[in-house]
Amino acid sequence: DKLHHLLRAMPKAELHIHIEGSLEPELIFALAQRNGVSLSYPSVEALRAAYAFTDLQSFLDIYYAGASVLLKAQDFEDMAMAYFRRARADNVVHAELFFDPQTHTARGVSFETVITGLTHACARAQAELGISSSLIMCFLRHLSEEEAFATLEEAMPFRSQIVGVGLDSSERGHPPEKFARVFAKCRELGLHLVAHAGEEGPPAYVWSALDVLKVERIDHGVRSVEDPVLMQRLARERVPLTVCPLSNVKLCVFKTMSEHNLATLLDQGLAATVNSDDPAYFGGYMNDNFVATFDALPQLTARHAYQLAANSFEASFVDAAAKSAWK
Ligand code: ADE
Ligand code: ZN
Repeated sequence: DKLHHLLRAMPKAELHIHIEGSLEPELIFALAQRNGVSLSYPSVEALRAAYAFTDLQSFLDIYYAGASVLLKAQDFEDMAMAYFRRARADNVVHAELFFDPQTHTARGVSFETVITGLTHACARAQAELGISSSLIMCFLRHLSEEEAFATLEEAMPFRSQIVGVGLDSSERGHPPEKFARVFAKCRELGLHLVAHAGEEGPPAYVWSALDVLKVERIDHGVRSVEDPVLMQRLARERVPLTVCPLSNVKLCVFKTMSEHNLATLLDQGLAATVNSDDPAYFGGYMNDNFVATFDALPQLTARHAYQLAANSFEASFVDAAAKSAWK
């Protein structure tokens, strides 16, 4: 119908996509074969059948295992190009891609290999598909501050290829404060700052992401609704929340989509956006997320759809000149 058509056809920006989470089972098997990597699942179907998650950690274990097939720059380029083609089909015109260098450098794949493949894909996305994009390097929060600093050091020769830094992986027990000094250093370097907070972790982690890490956007942030004072601040300061509805249901943050709080976030004036997080694992790309959310939440209207698209551009790290060219 009309609302579905609007959701699918409207231009949008994606701000929360872990590029390793776009690796479809078919591509995992193809890359395993190409690289001579052995997998612990016998088939694409068996792998996909293992995608039944109970919480964030149960997903992360299988997500890090899937990334083990990525060895060469060409693998990273192929993975990102497959994502960009899906994004194009969903009328995504701008994408900010998270990547997890530590998942690869820990396996002996160099930072240069990772960034070279991803940078090539970003250039091709612009040339072949008309999609602008940038890269956000994430630190794995279950690893140490020292390892995060070492990763930042490795990234320095490629500083111009990275728009910002983020914080992801296991949230509970790894509060933002653990990376206060790393983020202070990144801030000095002029990098944009974001962090996952309030996905499984408490509202206190959203507060410390804002006040200690000084992030500009909160990734997820859906548990902010438990703290009315925090909600007022997020609304007043228009702090963007990159919400990922299908992810939240797959990882049991909400039992069903009809319990999702996206409508509440928007109606309370927050700059919420819709994103896919790890689309190969959670059952859908951008438009699947929009459609599933609007189908489950009848209070969401065309006005909310426009608002979400506008928020995604407002919240992006595209410079002001390019943003005004969009309008
Ligand atoms: N890494 C990939 N997806 C993630 C998520 N949803 N939360 C934390 N870390 C992640
Ligand atoms: Zn995420």
